[in-house]
Amino acid sequence: MHEPILEENPGPGEPNLFRGRFKLGKKLGEGGQGKTYRGFDHETGVPVAIKELGLDFAENWKAIELFEREGRALRNLDHEAIPSYVDAFHIEEDDGTVRFFLVQEFVEGTTFQDLIDRDELITTEAAVDFIDQVLEILEYLHGLNPPVIHRDIKPSNLMLRPDGTVALVDFGAVQVVGPHSLMGSTIVGTSGYVAPEQLAGRTVPASDLYALGATVVHLMTHIHPADLPMERMRLRFEDLIIEAPKALIAFLRGVLEPVVEDRIATVPEARRILSGKGGTYLPVIADTGPPPVLERPVGSSIEVSQQPGQLTVWIPASSRYRAYYWVAALVLLAAMGAVLPLMTSKTMPLLIGAFGAFLLVAKIFISPTRLVIEPDTFAINRHTLNGNRRGWTEDLVDIEIREAGEEKFLLCMPMPAHLVMMEGVYPLHFGFGLTAVERRWVQGVVRHRLTG
Ligand SMILES: Nc1ncnc2c1ncn2[C@@H]1O[C@H](COP(=O)(O)OP(=O)(O)O)[C@@H](O)[C@H]1O
Ligand SMILES: [Mg+2]
Repeated sequence: MHEPILEENPGPGEPNLFRGRFKLGKKLGEGGQGKTYRGFDHETGVPVAIKELGLDFAENWKAIELFEREGRALRNLDHEAIPSYVDAFHIEEDDGTVRFFLVQEFVEGTTFQDLIDRDELITTEAAVDFIDQVLEILEYLHGLNPPVIHRDIKPSNLMLRPDGTVALVDFGAVQVVGPHSLMGSTIVGTSGYVAPEQLAGRTVPASDLYALGATVVHLMTHIHPADLPMERMRLRFEDLIIEAPKALIAFLRGVLEPVVEDRIATVPEARRILSGKGGTYLPVIADTGPPPVLERPVGSSIEVSQQPGQLTVWIPASSRYRAYYWVAALVLLAAMGAVLPLMTSKTMPLLIGAFGAFLLVAKIFISPTRLVIEPDTFAINRHTLNGNRRGWTEDLVDIEIREAGEEKFLLCMPMPAHLVMMEGVYPLHFGFGLTAVERRWVQGVVRHRLTG
């Protein structure tokens, strides 16, 4: 371990000081780049934060470049929520090793990671206040010319001062968007908070908005975003903060949109959504619909069994629909009785045939259904006329919910709400008589299986 040696580089009358000025104190943190210490500036008489590039990195020019970039970036920034730059220097040890230092204003308070570590959940109001303050900082950074992207927004780089204001630290990953930014850009960021496009080496201001969203979800749920369930690359956090206001959820969905082109792109847009005035935003939110139900709803008689590689859904016949069915059959029978005197021996078989066909086809509404999806093949068994179907699982495109009246039965009668499994372009209708939450549940588990 290389602990700081305070004897070196003594100042004129003050021994043990770097550059004759800075005293190194307690270690505040140790990250990918190196260590950060609390320190004291004897020239100005105020505490400072001193970051030292790790020795392992001090021979790696890429790391030195990033470190110097951090110093340069900080020097050019001027915002009360960003620690101001004090000094940057390197010293050479007797054995020839070089140590790099960056000195900045000391921010009093705790990091938001400390709050998580102390099990302090943030309230919804505090979350909105936090977002407001970080958006303010991002507006400043992104509004610079050229824009500055922080690239590592996360709880340990955001601090809460005793007066309740938020400060952003750690500009070690910062990128100044400019003519050189496309060349040799280093991939930085932290798993879970980093936006997909940033992982692919293409960082934009909206990447910081994504990381802010992941940070807020972490603060509100205490689940690290890397451990949250994902659905089609999208973090599923809605079920964990159901009591949060709609506008906050809309904001989080909008900034956590994985496809950068569909994400909330700018701070003003983010503010509009957060304030609840952003009703017109997006296909994104509209398309997402209510979150999927992945747990069995209490009281449902549907049976779902998930074995490795095989999903079986058993939907018993709906007793309500069975009653409708028999009532309809009796009504029809009575109507037939009424027209019986008009029948001839030729039209009689037609009438009976039509009645029988109706009963057989309408049986789809009351037939129990078994759906089995295996890795290669699937089978749906609907205990009704033409109700059995086997096919290739890879041909299953999606499972959709049809609302009541969206489709017609026998060309004219509106169909009740149900589920449709799409085998390519062929619809397989089932799930009549389920409740809305059961339809979403079956859709959720089947989609989960189809998307891996
Ligand atoms: N200016 C500062 N004032 C007070 N504490 C700071 C300051 N900068 C960093 N820290 C503390 O030191 C920790 C590590 O510093 P940081 O710049 O984030 O380096 P790393 O690259 O190691 O993450 C931070 O999480 C924070 O607790
Ligand atoms: Mg950090």
